[in-house]
This record gives sequence, structure tokens and C-alpha cells, in this order.
Amino acid sequence: MVSIEEVTVDVETIEGAIDFAAIFGYERPVEMEIGCGKGTFLLRQARGHPERNYFGIEWANEFFRYSADRMARWGVTNVRMARTDARHLMIHRVPVGSLSALHVYHPDPWPKKRHHKRRLFTPEFVEAAIRALRSGARWAIQTDHAEYFEVIRGLTAGRQELEPVAFDDAEYGAEGERTETNFEVKYVREGRPIHRLAFRRR
Ligand SMILES: C[S@@+](CC[C@H](N)C(=O)[O-])C[C@H]1O[C@@H](n2cnc3c(N)ncnc32)[C@H](O)[C@@H]1O
Repeated sequence: MVSIEEVTVDVETIEGAIDFAAIFGYERPVEMEIGCGKGTFLLRQARGHPERNYFGIEWANEFFRYSADRMARWGVTNVRMARTDARHLMIHRVPVGSLSALHVYHPDPWPKKRHHKRRLFTPEFVEAAIRALRSGARWAIQTDHAEYFEVIRGLTAGRQELEPVAFDDAEYGAEGERTETNFEVKYVREGRPIHRLAFRRR
């Protein structure tokens, strides 16, 4: 049994750059999921890959508590979760080359023009995420929102640090075996198209 306190990390109490080895207590490849919602993807991946560490970021308190409680009940020891703004954390606190994978599934699209500034994907965020990925790391992005997808594509296209790769990957779950997120399940059931991108950091 793992306590919820062991799963959660208050990043406000840490000064400067995030030290993942100190947070987890041991050095292993770190995969980050931004906006993990109810934590289905994070939990399955963490259980399937005890040799990797998983750092989940969720802004909404309700989902953060729900996910952290889930991790604790399943007793996973390779997950830590922070309740914070992932864009700010990525730009200011995540060390260069510290991530072996970055998962962003169904980021809030903020469809109204006056809300676009709240979106996760900005030029600064993409710059910081590229910096944070170590060589060979994977960045997978998925959304149901066509216009936001074009924005994300525009921000990542032509970046020579990012080599486009297949979304389905044996290491991260091949087609049909890949862990679906809660939103993915819902939208696929509704017949909505899902847009996907994956990169390997050169
Ligand atoms: C549409 S939901 C998708 C949840 C999950 N990834 C899925 O696919 O089922 C987006 C989630 O991202 C969280 N979120 C949005 N902006 C965020 C930010 N800047 N930092 C951390 N979490 C954020 C929201 O609270 C929400 O839980």
C-alpha cells in the first residue's frame, strides 16, 4: 500500500529546477504526462513499466486528487503527481534533457478565440518541451480538436530536433494494445476523428 502523500509532490515547496532523481528516490527514465485527468493512461503505463518513472501533472484539483488516490490504491511506486500549471513548470522548472517521453493527450482546446492564450501549446511551451526531452525521447500528442491540432502541427513542424515517427510504437503499445485515455474512449465511441502526432527527439 502506498499513501497519497507518497504519490503527490508539492512543487511549490521545491526551489529551482525539478530534481526527478530526488523526487523518486532513484534514477530511472522519466516519462511525463500533462493533463492526466482521471489517470487511466498513467496508471496502466506505470504498472506495465516498473523500470520507468512516471510524473503526472494535473491542474484541476478534483482530477488530481482522484488520480493520486488511484495510484495510491494500486500501490504503484513509480508514479509522482503534481498539481500545477504544466506550461509554467515546463518553461521554468523542467531540466534540460530530463525526460525520456512526454505524453499530451487531449489538451484542453479552449475553442473561443479570447481563451486561446490559456492553451498549453504556445511557442514558449514547445521550445521548453524540446529542451526537456533527452536525445531519443518520444513526444506523443493527441487531440480531437481539428483547429487546435493544426496549431500544434504548425508549432512543431519543421523543427529539426523533432523527427516525426509513427504514433503506434511497440515500446508504447502497438495499435489495438495501446492504453487509451478516458477522453479517447469517449470520443472514439462518439465517432469523432482523433488527430495524432509523435516525434523522436534527435
Ligand atoms: C480534456 S482533459 C484530458 C484528460 C486526459 N488526458 C484524457 O485524455 O482523458 C484535459 C486535462 O488537462 C488538464 N489541464 C489543462 N491545462 C492544464 C495545465 N496547464 N496543466 C496541467 N493540467 C492541465 C485539465 O484539468 C484536464 O484534466
